Amino acid sequence: MCGIVGYTGSRQATPILIEALHALEYRGYDSAGVAVSNPLTGGSIIVMKRAGKLVNLDRACEGDTTLAGTTGIGHTRWATHGAPTDHNAHPHQGFGRRVTIVHNGIVENYAALRTELQGRGVVFASETDTETIAHLMEEAMAGGASLLEALRTTGRCLEGSQAIVAVSEDEPGVIAGARIGNAGGLVVGHGEGEMYLASDLAALLPYTRRFTFLADGQYACVNANGLSVYEATGGPIPTETTVVDLDPVAALKGEYPYFMLKEIHEQPQALRDTIGSLVSVDPPALTLNDLGTMADTLAEIDRVVLIGMGTSMHSAMLGRKFIEDIAGVSAEVDNASEFRYRNPVLNERTLVISVSQSGETVDVLEAMAVAKRKGARQITICNTPGAQTSRVADGTLYTRAGPERGVASTKCFTAQVVSLYALAMGMARARGVLPDDDFGRRIRELAHLPNQVATMLSDMTPYEQAAQQFVSTTHMLFLGRGSGFPIAMEGALKMKEVSYIHAEGYAAGEMKHGPIALIDETCPTVGIATKHAMRAKVISNLQQVASRGGRVIALVTEGDAEVSQLAQSVLTIPDAGPDLEPVLASIPLQALAYYTGVLRGCDVDQPRNLAKSVTVE
Ligand code: M6R
Repeated sequence: MCGIVGYTGSRQATPILIEALHALEYRGYDSAGVAVSNPLTGGSIIVMKRAGKLVNLDRACEGDTTLAGTTGIGHTRWATHGAPTDHNAHPHQGFGRRVTIVHNGIVENYAALRTELQGRGVVFASETDTETIAHLMEEAMAGGASLLEALRTTGRCLEGSQAIVAVSEDEPGVIAGARIGNAGGLVVGHGEGEMYLASDLAALLPYTRRFTFLADGQYACVNANGLSVYEATGGPIPTETTVVDLDPVAALKGEYPYFMLKEIHEQPQALRDTIGSLVSVDPPALTLNDLGTMADTLAEIDRVVLIGMGTSMHSAMLGRKFIEDIAGVSAEVDNASEFRYRNPVLNERTLVISVSQSGETVDVLEAMAVAKRKGARQITICNTPGAQTSRVADGTLYTRAGPERGVASTKCFTAQVVSLYALAMGMARARGVLPDDDFGRRIRELAHLPNQVATMLSDMTPYEQAAQQFVSTTHMLFLGRGSGFPIAMEGALKMKEVSYIHAEGYAAGEMKHGPIALIDETCPTVGIATKHAMRAKVISNLQQVASRGGRVIALVTEGDAEVSQLAQSVLTIPDAGPDLEPVLASIPLQALAYYTGVLRGCDVDQPRNLAKSVTVE
């Protein structure tokens, strides 16, 4: 979940590392650090690190002349082993200060390695698992290994998934990197006379569009002039370079106070771009070109299993409904973290659809590995070009939401939902069960959706006012049925994530089986009572809430006045038709969570304890 970066070239490394760390801070913000090789002191490595958010490191680096140097590495931490303190912050150095590393992942056997190293007289400076890597590399280099060889030798001793970037004063201008397992990616950026490494290409977009994605088990060695990639066993691998055409400006906050608000407002464009890549309107057609030959096999599928985590699992829940309703194919959903430890029954006629914004979530990747072993076909829905999920799947549908930096996912959720909708239509057409007129109507509704979202976002006042009314609550329930259930789950997740209000999403039918005991005047209920989400049933649940003294925030379709008699606050959406209604229904709940979080003084972009990419178990 940490962010790692490296730079080597002819420019000063520190400002480049810090700028890249700003772009990676969504991965963890417990501490940050850089290490720079300073030619003025014979190439020795200077380390600067600070607990807390990146701003602390930024201040510490300002005007520090010892940090001058043209090769360096940096890190932003999400703490796993050891508290978020200065001394546990990365980079970490080996006992002789010959090796300096940054790391993302967990060394699962670190306790045994630590004991062995201590037995050989090594003194530890931190409580981290990472420090064992630095000492093992130091030992290997002391025995005559090069930096890359030391990394490879050490890599063989480590259990678990890791991404590691290392420098050594013995090899000025050289950076070695490794990707072992699924610990959140490592990408090499190619510049002119300079090279970069980072956890995520978005951090490198201001510098280059040419990238090499390291796969599991690959080791990289860069200097200012280029890259060499090797197998763990030592053999060289031909370097593949991909040009990624993404806009670096999209990753900036601009005039918005928070990325989350910016990304909520970017949804019309994100939907336009995503829908534009999936369908054409006149004549109505699907353009699932991203899927390649996988698109030709959709008719052979007789069962679908959708997997994801958090918000991505909520969009998968909607995907299940689309696939059942439109394509008539049996579909189920599972948490990737549960699926990976079950013994799921899969075969070559089963399609596993993994949904992941980052494409690097460790549980999703491990669940995909299970699906692969069992011979299922796989499609992944992903927002990050070159992500690991797209390397494992047989086909990828890329959402075109642009970089999402707020930890709370917003625009990627709605982009995932429309992608799943298009995929369900693709399956239905392949099976011959979606007649032309119905297909044409669905495509027209889809094409209209971005403008409907834009209209909803043109006036944020109702959402802000609703947030003001309920800002001081400590508990909330979100209830929905049918397509409103995943929206209730997603609304509750957004609320707890960014405002720290304890919020639970329930299938409204569950209400009387327990949760109703929570209802009193201190526990408001958000009810998704929109036209196509089993409105009458949900209204009946909301009446039961109101008659027990509970306050109600109702989400209804424009023109629906009935619920206003029992609700303290009513939010509305336009009518989008039965299938696309949940996309519109998610918008007010994103905004409600955002304003509630801001009013409560929370950092909605970087909520406590969270990180955007969950790359450790
Ligand atoms: O990158 P992914 O879509 O695989 O991430 C999955 C979840 O970690 C993510 O959706 C998380 O729940 C969000 N922070 C929710 O806003």
